[in-house]
Amino acid sequence: MLKLRLAHGDESEYFYNLRNDPDSVKGSGGGVEFFDHQSWWHNTSDLLIVAMVDKDRVGTLRVATNGVVSIVVAPEHRGKGLSTKMLKALVPFAKQFGHKKLQAYVKVDNARSVKAFERAKWKKEPEWFFEKKL
Ligand SMILES: CC(C)(COP(=O)(O)OP(=O)(O)OC[C@H]1O[C@@H](n2cnc3c(N)ncnc32)[C@H](O)[C@@H]1OP(=O)(O)O)[C@@H](O)C(=O)NCCC(=O)NCCS
Repeated sequence: MLKLRLAHGDESEYFYNLRNDPDSVKGSGGGVEFFDHQSWWHNTSDLLIVAMVDKDRVGTLRVATNGVVSIVVAPEHRGKGLSTKMLKALVPFAKQFGHKKLQAYVKVDNARSVKAFERAKWKKEPEWFFEKKL
């Protein structure tokens, strides 16, 4: 059974590795440097969550203070429907921490992610994006 728990202080590297996995990099438009990640890790107020199946870590969720969610399923656990379970479990979990609304920005070509959010019954909102590469 899938359960969510808060990340421990020493799990920075786990988050970093999942964040820099090739599919995550593609899904988010870029990777992060370890130094930047560490400084973010020690200063963030985001809700940092680890998904567990029995004693195994299977992925991470991050809920920013504004309710924006990022999800990564560990590569070896993809394709088993865990992302939908994680998104469903996130609802009561995030509520406990005072969140009233969750949002996610998903690239249209990230088919797995789009499906995961659809299956978890998140409502698709049409929105415009502007981007500038620097
Ligand atoms: C996106 C991600 C979270 C999905 O996690 P997952 O647990 O592997 O996804 P699921 O097993 O629940 O699969 C989701 C759906 O995509 C489908 N799918 C699987 N592989 C696919 C592929 N290569 N192309 C298209 N759809 C695919 C699955 O069949 C499933 O659909 P179904 O429920 O109708 O069967 C995971 O791939 C991941 O961590 N990617 C890198 C990070 C990322 O992109 N995060 C999202 C940005 S917010």
